[in-house]
Amino acid sequence: MKQYKKMITTILLGGVLLGSLAGCGSSNTATAESTILTEASSKTTTTESTGGVLVMGTNATFPPFEYVDQNEIVGFDVEMAELIANELGMELKVQDMEFEAIFGALPNDMIDIGMAGITVNEERLTQVDFSDGYFDTKQMVIVKKDSGIVSSDDLVGKKVGAQLGTTSATFAKLYIEDVKVIEFNKSALAVADLMNGTVDAVIVDAAPAQSLIKGQDSLMILETPFAEEEYAIAIKKGNSELTGKINEALATIKENGQYDELYSKYFSETDK
Ligand code: ARG
Repeated sequence: MKQYKKMITTILLGGVLLGSLAGCGSSNTATAESTILTEASSKTTTTESTGGVLVMGTNATFPPFEYVDQNEIVGFDVEMAELIANELGMELKVQDMEFEAIFGALPNDMIDIGMAGITVNEERLTQVDFSDGYFDTKQMVIVKKDSGIVSSDDLVGKKVGAQLGTTSATFAKLYIEDVKVIEFNKSALAVADLMNGTVDAVIVDAAPAQSLIKGQDSLMILETPFAEEEYAIAIKKGNSELTGKINEALATIKENGQYDELYSKYFSETDK
């Protein structure tokens, strides 16, 4: 098989802060809820494979990118990984785990790729390599409609919920003054605490935010994004052969229209 010596072209730095909050307020991080792994069976595609198995680590709590539906892990990332595995002539296996565990599973060869709406940032670049980016996103703030919070400036001194180990939690701690960040195993639990008044706001990526407030009339998403980011596929540090192959596959599925087809299956143009 051809060896790809392509350089990793990940050039993204951390997310870009869009809100006007400045200063480094002290932050207290509450302990995470006890670990509950999604009880979903790992899924294997039926594609003929000659090139072995590609194991994707994910955290299926993040619709529409990865979530559990009828005991199966589905979503945009899963379908994209299937397209990539197809390009590589490999069989895809999806492994559900805690979000933070993905970064430890890669160096230990427990998984081959991490795909979980993973934002590229500098801290993670010290642990893993990233493919080229495949999705632009924003961090959004969910609040109760009657909370009086109308912009991220109003979050100063408030309790903010976010998923453990995510950039949502990191940004909240970095950019909101005197914030108390409470980290949850999944954003849905943070939203539940928002509804019952335990936290004042939840920070989460844009498309999952939309899906989390669906059917919840008392909640809304603040208009101004908190930050802008890009998702990429995480790969074991130094595995430039796999990174190269994945970038080739990504380029192919972008060129041949499969990416666009998948995109429109999950998102409308207005989500862009
Ligand atoms: N984009 C954010 C990050 O990389 C959140 C990702 C959470 N993904 C998930 N599957 N739960 O930190």
